[in-house]
Amino acid sequence: MHFTGADILSVKQFDPDSIARIFAIADQMQPYAHRKKRTRVLDGAILGNLFFEPSTRTRVSFGTAFNLLGGEVRETTGMESSAIAKGESLYDTARVLSSYSDIIAMRHPKAGSVAEFAEGSRVPVINGGDGANEHPTQALLDLYTIKKELEHNKLGIDGMHICMVGDLKYGRTVHSLSKLLSMYSNVRFTLISPRELSMPDDILSMLDSAGHKVHITEHIEGSMDADIVYQTRIQQERFATAEEADQYRGKFRLNNEIYTRHYKPNTVIMHPLPRDSRAEANELDNDLNQNPNLAIFRQADNGVLIRMALFALTLGVEDLLQKYETDV
Ligand code: CP
Repeated sequence: MHFTGADILSVKQFDPDSIARIFAIADQMQPYAHRKKRTRVLDGAILGNLFFEPSTRTRVSFGTAFNLLGGEVRETTGMESSAIAKGESLYDTARVLSSYSDIIAMRHPKAGSVAEFAEGSRVPVINGGDGANEHPTQALLDLYTIKKELEHNKLGIDGMHICMVGDLKYGRTVHSLSKLLSMYSNVRFTLISPRELSMPDDILSMLDSAGHKVHITEHIEGSMDADIVYQTRIQQERFATAEEADQYRGKFRLNNEIYTRHYKPNTVIMHPLPRDSRAEANELDNDLNQNPNLAIFRQADNGVLIRMALFALTLGVEDLLQKYETDV
C-alpha cells in the first residue's frame, strides 16, 4: 500500500506487509510517546479532529498523537455545534474543512459516512469509526496489542485462537479486527453472542473463504484454550430503543470466577473500551483489574503509537522523525 496522501477508511486497504510497516513505525514512536525524546516533524501542520459521536480514547489519542509529532489540533465535537445541524452536506463540510487542515480524523454515527466525507476532502481522512461499519485504527491497535501480548506468551498471530464475546452484530471493532485477522493463517475464532447479535454474514463468509475455523455459540463453554478473549459492550446506541438493548445486557460477563473456570491462566483479556460498568451490564468486571493478563489499558496506550504511525505515514514524514528530534 502507498500511504502518503491516502485516506484510511477500512482495514480492507491493508495487507500483512503494510500492517508490518505500520507496526514498525509504531515501534519507532515509543520514545516520543513516552516523553524520552521530542520530535517536531509536523510543526505547523493542523489536524481537524471531527467527532460527531461520543468518544474518549479515539478522539483524545488522535489529538495526542498529532501533538506528540509537533502538530496542532482543531476539534469539532457533536453534530449540534457544526453546520451539519443546519442541513449542510458531508461533501460541502469536507470541501470547507479540508482547506483548514492538513489531515482530518472523523467519527460519525452513519455507516459509510466517513468515506462519503473523504470524497469531498482535499486532504487525507482517517476513519475514527462510522456507525456499526468499521473502526480501522482500533483494529490496528488491537492487532498490535495482540502481537505484543502473544509474543510475551511466546505465540504468534498465525494459528492463534480468539474468543470474541458480546455484541458482535453492532460492534464495529470486532468487524474490523476480524477482517484484519482474516489476512493471517489458521486463526481460530470462537464467536460467543446472543443469536440476534451474531457476527454479520459477510464477515463470516470472508473468514470461511480465507480458511479460518469459526465456532459460533451462545455459550462460553469450549473457549478453554483461547489465547485471547475479546469482550465487547452492548452497543446501546445502535438499537431502536434502550429497552431492546437491555434484554442483552449482562448476558456475557467476564469476571475473575468465570475467567478462572473457562480460560487458560495466560489468556489475554481485551476490550476496546469503554466497558459498561453499570451493575446490569458489567461485561468486564473490576475484579480482573489486577490480573496481569488484562491488556485493556495497554491497548488504549498502543492507540497513541498506532495513530502517530498513521499520521507519519499518510503525511509522508516517517523517515524524518529523527531529523526534527530534540532531547526532552
Ligand atoms: N475504543 C473506542 O473507540 O473508544 P472511544 O469510543 O472512547 O473512542
